[in-house]
Amino acid sequence: MRMGTRRLAPVWVGVAIGILMVAAPIARAGDRQDDAAGGAGVMDELFDEGSVVFGTHCVACHDSAGGDGQAPALSGHPSMGAKDHIVRQVLRGNLEKGMPAFASQLSDRQVAAVATYIRNAWENGYGVVLEADAKRIRAEVKAE
Ligand code: HEC
Repeated sequence: MRMGTRRLAPVWVGVAIGILMVAAPIARAGDRQDDAAGGAGVMDELFDEGSVVFGTHCVACHDSAGGDGQAPALSGHPSMGAKDHIVRQVLRGNLEKGMPAFASQLSDRQVAAVATYIRNAWENGYGVVLEADAKRIRAEVKAE
């Protein structure tokens, strides 16, 4: 009997390892779904898209390190934590001070992406700005 039990043990270990191997990828797939609903995956996508928007529309004044003297450095800029304020500035600009308005050039998605990018590039770490945020703030700006 004892011999038999001992001989069975490797089978149970094998089954346990098998269950873990099947369960782990399922758990990871679940994480990915959570990401798609608004977690790290969305943040990464918006950041990547935002770096392209920044390279096209912003880098001429705010150089790749976030500023070159013509425009304030966005790395470490005290406004970066204020999500709504940043989105407003991008949409409305501040023409007297030399910041153009981008409401007519950028979609809600692009505004969210570039805002996500500048809030998280360089030394910054302030989190995502979603397309829904850009849409809401655009409507507020239009109503003013
Ligand atoms: C033509 C030059 C120019 C371009 C292009 C430009 N900016 Fe600016 N930006 C400025 C200047 C100048 C200021 C400072 C305005 C001020 O003092 O309020 C500024 C300020 C800002 C601020 C800080 C606003 C605040 O009140 O704290 C943010 C954020 C910003 N820009 C983001 C962007 C983004 C994102 C883009 C591209 C979509 C962009 N800028 C393109 C010149 C520019």
